[in-house]
Parts: sequence; C-alpha cells; structure tokens
Amino acid sequence: MYDGDMRKIVVANWKMNLTLRESLQLAKDVVAESAKVHNVDIILCPSFTALPGVGPLLPRAIALGAQDVFWEEKGAYTGAIAPRLLVEMGCRAVLVGHSERRQYFQETDAMANKKVLAALRAGLTPILCVGETSEERRAGQKDYVVMRQVQEAMRGVALLGTQELLVAYEPVWVIGTGQAVSGDDAEHMSQVIRHTIADVISSVAMERRCRILYGGSVDAKNVADFTRRSVIDGVLVGGASLKSSSFFGILAAVSS
Ligand code: PGA
Repeated sequence: MYDGDMRKIVVANWKMNLTLRESLQLAKDVVAESAKVHNVDIILCPSFTALPGVGPLLPRAIALGAQDVFWEEKGAYTGAIAPRLLVEMGCRAVLVGHSERRQYFQETDAMANKKVLAALRAGLTPILCVGETSEERRAGQKDYVVMRQVQEAMRGVALLGTQELLVAYEPVWVIGTGQAVSGDDAEHMSQVIRHTIADVISSVAMERRCRILYGGSVDAKNVADFTRRSVIDGVLVGGASLKSSSFFGILAAVSS
C-alpha cells in the first residue's frame, strides 16, 4: 500500500456521517484532487453501505477501507461483517479498535486482537487504533496504557509475506475536539508504539510492514507538524475528512 519512506499516508474516517449520495460525491472529488497530490497514499473509509458504490470509483492509488470488521469467517452472527465480505467489496484496509468502538460497543483489546488477526488472514491491512483517555493521561499512565493496548492487540501477529499493519495513536480526549496534541507529544507516542511493536515482531517486519499514524483533530493547519516528522508516517482524519475543502487542505499540506 505504501512504498518508500518519503510517502505519507492519509486515512479518511467518515464515521457515520455521510449518505450514499454524499459519499459518492466526496469520493469523486477526492479522486479528482488526488492527481495534484504527490507522495501521499490515501485510504478512504466510508460506511459499510457506501463501500460497493465508492470502491469502483477509486483508482489503484487510493485504497478503500472499512470502519470495522468481525473476526469470524461466516456463520450466525447477525449484523456482523466478515473480513472476506470486505475483501469482496474491494477493501484493502480496515479500522480496528477505534476508540468509538471501544466506548459505544464495549470493544476490548482481546477483541481488537481477534480482528487484527482475522483481517490479516483475509489480506486486509488493519489500522489498529490505540490511545489513552484524559483520566489515564492525568494519572501519568499514557505510555503504559498505549503499550498494553498495542501488546494485547498484536498477540500472535507476525506480519508475514505481504501483510502490513498501520497503528494509529489517537488520544481519546482530543478526538473531535478541534484541539490536537502537539507534534512533540505525537512523536513521543509514536516512538513508544514503535518500540512496543519491535518487541512483538522482527525488526525487519517492523521497518518494512508497519507504519505509525497520528489521529485526533488533525486539520490543514496542524497536519504538517505531524507528517514532517520521520517517525510519524501519516494521519488518520475524522471531522476534517468530511468536506472536500478541509480534506484537500490536508492533502496539499502533506503532499511533497
Ligand atoms: P477527528 O477524528 O479527526 O474528528 O478528531 C479522528 C478519528 O476519530 O479517527
């Protein structure tokens, strides 16, 4: 999905915001704009219902991603979506363990682990989201919390063959607030995540197959302070990915 260290990744998480018609329009706009953007890999994550419509609009250079996945391959799991069904829709990536899934759907690190493993088995790139709450940060536990989340979600993960993994540091307390953490803060956490992953998988796999993103109130003004840092490989954008004007501002700032 990405080649070379120069390239940065921008993931758009549209969450539960756009209708099918709005999703198709925004996807078309992003495709047109992407011709002006250099060294940026874009991943669009629409709602499940928009996947079959948005997928065929995207050129190879823009990846389709889903916002969630279930870990079983098939069976009596009402409402759940299996990894192979996402692959069938053309998805190449999937968000796993987003803080909103943890908050509203009681998802745990153990569930995130099953989803990461199932996504990898199906050939999808998991975008594992981790991050501390404001209470955890105030208690001085942020490094520890994020290390534990990464360790537990990556249990049994080896990253073989062409498998890839993205890990997004998303401090829960800044998501959707308009107030991102500082670039230094994100860089520190990116290093914490990098070292934690290096304990789980080989250093070669870490270098070649793992990328670390920052997410949480990323906008056109602050994005470059994250992506100019070599240890931050890209960003995960929620609110500012919903309008072409704000999303294009981000793409332009990341483009080189
Ligand atoms: P935000 O969301 O950019 O609106 O803060 C980021 C996310 O939840 O992935």
